[in-house]
Amino acid sequence: MNETAPARARAEIDLAALRANVRTLRAHAPAAALMAVVKSDAYGHGAVRCARAALDAGATWLGTATPEEALALREAGLPGRIMCWLWTPGGPWRAAVEADVDLGISGLWALREAAGAARAAGRTARVQLKADTGLGRNGCQPGDWPELVAAALRAEAEGLVRVTGLWSHFACADEPGHPSIGAQLTAFREMVTYAEKKGIRPEVRHIANSPATLTLPETHFDLVRTGIATYGISPSPALGTAAELGLRPVMTLSAALALVKRVPAGHGVSYGHHYVTPGDTTLGLVPVGYADGIPRHASGTGPVLTGGKWRTVAGRVAMDQFAVDLGGDQPAVGERVVLFGPGDEGEPTAEDWARAAGTIAYEIVTRIGTRVPRVYVNIESSPS
Ligand SMILES: Cc1ncc(COP(=O)(O)O)c(C=O)c1O
Repeated sequence: MNETAPARARAEIDLAALRANVRTLRAHAPAAALMAVVKSDAYGHGAVRCARAALDAGATWLGTATPEEALALREAGLPGRIMCWLWTPGGPWRAAVEADVDLGISGLWALREAAGAARAAGRTARVQLKADTGLGRNGCQPGDWPELVAAALRAEAEGLVRVTGLWSHFACADEPGHPSIGAQLTAFREMVTYAEKKGIRPEVRHIANSPATLTLPETHFDLVRTGIATYGISPSPALGTAAELGLRPVMTLSAALALVKRVPAGHGVSYGHHYVTPGDTTLGLVPVGYADGIPRHASGTGPVLTGGKWRTVAGRVAMDQFAVDLGGDQPAVGERVVLFGPGDEGEPTAEDWARAAGTIAYEIVTRIGTRVPRVYVNIESSPS
């Protein structure tokens, strides 16, 4: 292998940007602790490296969806509080209790499994009761809350669990003024008050995700759980751009041109010939495709920067590659093509790809596949 050859593709992960984002988010919620949400391999950025960088910048909690993700962080040596919330029956409850992970609990069956694991492990499980305040996904319905609270108090009395948190999740915090925000907040306050009156003494009460952390201070309580903003991406165009929110995108996705060639007018490009060259031109072959997470829905619309110019995906995105019409330019094979990055060198952003593919920027970064190596830059935090 030629070590100096340009990589087929790489996702550069700027950990200084991530640390700066964490500091910005902490400044938005100065009275609350910050949980860096690093589920789904830190939204595609690499969970262990990003978790370490987030802790360096002052996050004190790490959040994952699955217990396996939480356990992987512990196995990698990540200290401090780690919470996971997406359980199924028969999950690795005992391993999670032994690894000192906080367990999100959405119903009686889950509390029973947590308590059973604690008994087997001979230690107390840290559990956090999740209220469904209106999202209609995971969490305990208000009508079932008294039963869950009572069961948790009994398990606490037996020394099997300690209720460390009461929490919930928003449905529409990224839609300014949405009536469900106030309704969820009211329901959350009522469910917390009920549990506390009954004798639950949580360390942390939390409901805020990135959009709530950035725009709704009344939702911060004791802890905020930030995912997408940690990675420098605006939760929604409705809230402003990343730059307007003081965030810096962490991932830059680029590839090396695999081929540049002249083609005549009327030449069909890629499967289905959905693009036909309007005149004599040059085509550049970008060696990433939907197997790498490039959305096929961005066929004919996805933007890239190469040779200082924006080009658009010509025809379909295939499994491993797509073409761009270079309009007669003849860059060298191997020249860098930037799909998205922070945008300050004129390159598109993940938000631009989201718009092109009719999706959200969360999906753009999270789907970047394992075949694309992550290359970490600015790894060390500078002494402050
Ligand atoms: C329970 C929970 N909390 C927090 C987050 C972080 O959300 P965001 O990426 O919008 O900050 C998520 C992500 O979906 C989540 O599922």
